[in-house]
Amino acid sequence: MADMPNTSARSSRISGFHKMSTAERLKIVADFCGLDEQSAALLGNTGNLDPHIADHMIENVVGTMTIPVGVATNMRIDGKDILVPMATEESSVVAAVCNAARQCYDEGGFTTSMSGALMIAQVQLVGVSDPESARIKILERKNDIKEICDACDPVLVKFGGGFRDLEVRVIESRGGPMVITHLIVDTRDAMGANAVNTMAEKLAPSIEGWTGGKVFLRILSNLADRRVARARAVWPAEAIGGEAVRDGIISAYHFAEADPYRAATHNKGIMNGVSAIVLATGNDTRAVEAGAHAYAARSGRYTSLTRWEKTAEGHLVGVLEMPMAVGLIGGATKVHPIARACLSILGVTAAEELARIIAAVGLAQNFSALRALATTGIQKGHMALHAQNVAIMAGALGAEVDAVARALVAAGTVRIDAAEAELAKIRNS
Ligand code: MEV
Repeated sequence: MADMPNTSARSSRISGFHKMSTAERLKIVADFCGLDEQSAALLGNTGNLDPHIADHMIENVVGTMTIPVGVATNMRIDGKDILVPMATEESSVVAAVCNAARQCYDEGGFTTSMSGALMIAQVQLVGVSDPESARIKILERKNDIKEICDACDPVLVKFGGGFRDLEVRVIESRGGPMVITHLIVDTRDAMGANAVNTMAEKLAPSIEGWTGGKVFLRILSNLADRRVARARAVWPAEAIGGEAVRDGIISAYHFAEADPYRAATHNKGIMNGVSAIVLATGNDTRAVEAGAHAYAARSGRYTSLTRWEKTAEGHLVGVLEMPMAVGLIGGATKVHPIARACLSILGVTAAEELARIIAAVGLAQNFSALRALATTGIQKGHMALHAQNVAIMAGALGAEVDAVARALVAAGTVRIDAAEAELAKIRNS
């Protein structure tokens, strides 16, 4: 304890922090924790993001954190070849998509579809003594509700979107019955959070007026189960290492389907691919993740988002269905120059196309994870890439990185101490 710095004088109460420039904030933060000059300079280097854009994207910006964007090859989706940009810090994720896509390419690749672009906004009404009659009163106002909602976003309506339907449910809660109104809105090429939240807020006073109750929450639901993307692909058994591999993948799916502990990891693997492209295109990773996991639990038991079977010809077929609330306009998609570049690489012109590509990537990711798990295990491939990170952490530069990584993998010891020893050996030789 004697070596610990004295931090008692530090205060996190920094007056006017949000009004300062990025550089001023960074200086304060660096002084606060004794950040060395090199680290502070790296943090403050906003790289490919204009510092003014960064400063306006979130609050109290002091810098940026860059993560690699890789491009998955071999993807054929609905008869079209596509290069897929993926932003991720995890090694093996991009390679997994490339490998899965290569092995089903000759069979036609991925076929995708979409249930529609409908988002749901919820309005929570409490304090009504007759919730069933309040429910019907709200349903009676469907035309008024459509008018109020559509008036919130004439541009959306002009592009063919807007209010589509109304659902009202009475739910029992710990605090008594609640009347929950769902506004079902076609948000077209927008993810739609802003559009539907505005509608819900605008409508709330009317709902209070019609029912005499009190509205509290007015917010979208991330369980976007009316915006479900689907992907399907067939892998011939001989292209993936034979019938035993096929059966191993199907058995791995049966495990995930039956056991939430396994399903969580199975779906995490799917999200490795999904979140990487959602992030690369400037979309909201947490919204898609929340939707995925809620959808996986919609039966009351958390289960696999994919399904795997054997076709009559003995091929392996996989399908994925999951909510995919992503857009091409709004949020960081238009503001972040790299998100725009990634959308250009994909060549998509509609949010639905993007959603469908993401579903294909999720399925590809799941295929590769299950194939590895059902055969050699994931550590072999993973460690080869991880070894490169460890080599860099040990100080390897340029060609040393590969040399150290290869030596670590050959020795079967991917550890920082082994990397340092190997690096020293290379440099001394
Ligand atoms: C690792 O990031 C993802 C996997 O654990 C997924 C899975 O187990 O299916 C390999």
